Amino acid sequence: MKSLYSATFFIPTTSKLPICHHSPLLSLKSSPFLRFSADPSNKQTNTGKSRLPERIKASSMASTLSTASSDHSQSTKPYSVLFVCLGNICRSPAAEGVFRHLVKQRNLDSVFYIDSAGTINYHEGNPADSRMRAASKRRGIEITSISRPIKPSDFREFDLILAMDRQNREDILEAFERWRHRETFPIDADKKVELMCSYCKRHDETEVPDPYYGGPQGFEKVLDLLEDACESLLEKIVAEGSQVLAS
Ligand code: 4NP
Repeated sequence: MKSLYSATFFIPTTSKLPICHHSPLLSLKSSPFLRFSADPSNKQTNTGKSRLPERIKASSMASTLSTASSDHSQSTKPYSVLFVCLGNICRSPAAEGVFRHLVKQRNLDSVFYIDSAGTINYHEGNPADSRMRAASKRRGIEITSISRPIKPSDFREFDLILAMDRQNREDILEAFERWRHRETFPIDADKKVELMCSYCKRHDETEVPDPYYGGPQGFEKVLDLLEDACESLLEKIVAEGSQVLAS
């Protein structure tokens, strides 16, 4: 069988990024990521139907997953997704856990960088809420993240920022505006902030409701919505890679 790649090297842009000298992607010969990254010249293609922002449909995916073909040590920057809620102890850590779980199931963990954050720092340093962790664990999903607030570098380093509700999204954009005066951001950084539920296919809700002061059913609802949204988000990202190649 033809071997597509002999090695893939990730060059981390933050200290938390994985360093992988022999990616599991090497075994995914049919992966759209691999095929996509093999031909970054196709990156401008746009079907016009996707809900993914332009940057993610094309240039971001390409820059994230492209390889430096002239360099014998091919470099790849992981595609990065940041999930954000208020406290970063319930919804966004669960979103991080669910998405990580799906990515791992597809053997794609090495091409994604996944994190979560809160718009407030009240719970900074704390693990996720025990009720959220327990509900996730019952579905086979581990939540391991430690709460942290959003920071200016998030707007530079993440390709996609997903807010759990409208207030979260407003707060993220406000922070972005506040920091814009003293930080250098990509010109379209605000366009990468989307609502999580915009990816839901099986649910009509437009926001992931805050479960913090409610009962156990609130945590189940959060997971139902997140599983729906994360599945469709991952499918979309993978499909975009394939569509770009097919065109
Ligand atoms: P989260 O939930 O935003 O999903 O993490 C909350 C966590 C803490 C608080 C509110 C919501 N709080 O008020 O402390």
